[in-house]
Amino acid sequence: MTTTAALTDVAAEFPVIARGGGSFSYLDSAATSQTPQPVIDAMTRYYTETRASVHRGVYPLAVQATDLFEGARATIARWLHSSPEETIFTANATAAINLVAYSWGRSRIGPGDLVVLTEMEHHSNIVPWQMVCAERGAELAYVHVDGDGLLDLDELDALLARGPRLVGVVHVSNVLGTVNPVAEIVRRAHDAGAVALVDGSQAVPQIPVDLREIGADFYAWTGHKAYGPTGIGVLHGRRDLLEEMPPFIGGGHMIRTVGERESTWADLPWKFEAGTSQIAEAIGLGAAVDWIEAIGIDRIRAHEQALVADAMARLAEVPGLRMHGPADPAARGALVSFVLDGAHPHDVGEILGREGVCVRTGHHCTQPLMRRLGAISTTRASYAVHNTTADTDRLIEGLGTVIRVLQL
Ligand SMILES: Cc1ncc(COP(=O)(O)O)c(C=O)c1O
Repeated sequence: MTTTAALTDVAAEFPVIARGGGSFSYLDSAATSQTPQPVIDAMTRYYTETRASVHRGVYPLAVQATDLFEGARATIARWLHSSPEETIFTANATAAINLVAYSWGRSRIGPGDLVVLTEMEHHSNIVPWQMVCAERGAELAYVHVDGDGLLDLDELDALLARGPRLVGVVHVSNVLGTVNPVAEIVRRAHDAGAVALVDGSQAVPQIPVDLREIGADFYAWTGHKAYGPTGIGVLHGRRDLLEEMPPFIGGGHMIRTVGERESTWADLPWKFEAGTSQIAEAIGLGAAVDWIEAIGIDRIRAHEQALVADAMARLAEVPGLRMHGPADPAARGALVSFVLDGAHPHDVGEILGREGVCVRTGHHCTQPLMRRLGAISTTRASYAVHNTTADTDRLIEGLGTVIRVLQL
C-alpha cells in the first residue's frame, strides 16, 4: 500500500504515539485525534512568548496575540472556503449547533413548524433541536437509514414537501462512516425553502471540504477531532443569516455599545464570541490546519481510505463479526463499527485494550441510530493519518484473543 508507506513517518510527529513506541494502536481518532507536535508548539509559543488578551490592549504584545488569533481564523476560513466574518469560534461542535438552535432556532421556529433531522445524527445535533421544538411547539421528524447505512432521500423529499424550517444532517456519520451527499441534500432543502445545517465534525479531518460547494447555511465542526486542541469548535454561517440573528450569549467582547438598559452588538464574527476567547486553542487549531495542509487532505483521505478498505476486508474474515455502514469502503470515512455475535462490545473493548488496541465501544452518542441497528452499542475502530496496516494487524490479532477468552 504505497500511500500507507508514504505517511509512516508522520507517526513520529505525535508525542503520545511516539511515546508508546509501538506498544499500542490508537484506533479512536473519531472520538478525539492525537495532537501533532507543531500544534502543541504553536500553543506553547503563545503561552511562553506572546501571551496577552486579544482585541483589548494596544501594546505590542496584545497586538501580536490578536494577530495570531485572527490569523488562525483567516487560515481556517481560507482552508474551508469560508470568510473570517462567517467563521465563529465556539467551545466545540456541540456549542456551535446550540448557537444555531438557540439564536436562529428560537427566533425562527414557531408552533406547528417542522424540523427535519436524520436518524444518524450525533446527540449534539438532536438534543438542541428537541429542546427548541419542545419550547416552540414545533415538530421533529427524521430521515431514516437503509440497510446499507445510507439515507433514504425519497423520505427526505417527502418531508421537504411539508415545508420544514430546517434540515440538519451529519456530513460523515461517526458510527456508520457514511459520507452523506450533503451538497445534494442542501440543494433540495433550499429548493423547499428550508435552512440547512451540516455537522462536519467527522468530515473536516477526513475528507476535502469546500463550503462553497456544499452551500450549507450553517456548518459546524470541532477542533479536537481535527488534530487541534480540545475546547475549540467552529461554526461557519451565512453572513445574512448571522447578521439577522440575535446574539446567543451576552457579555464582554460581543457588544458595540452598552447602555444601562440596552446594548448594540459587535460586527461578525465577534457578535457571537462573548467573553475572553479560546486564544491558545484558536492558535492551535490554526496550526493544525497548516499541518494538515502541508500533508494534503487528499493524501490523508487516500491513506485512510486504503486502510479502511484493508480493515473491512480483514474484519469480514473474523467469525461472527458484522460490520455496520456502507459495504463500499469508498462511500465511508475513516472508521468501521462492528458487533461480534455473543459478545458485549464493552467486553470486546476491554480485552482489546489489554492487547494494546484503543477502540471506542458504546452507543457513540447516537441512541436513535443504535435502535435502528437493533444494537445497544458497537465497537468502533477509527483511523487517522498516523495509522498503518500494522494497527489493523493488532486489531485482528486482538479480536482472535477476544474470541478465545470469551469462548465465542
Ligand atoms: C458527528 C459528530 N458530531 C458532533 C460531535 C460532538 O463533538 P463535540 O463533543 O466536540 O462537540 C461528535 C463527537 O463525537 C461527532 O462525532
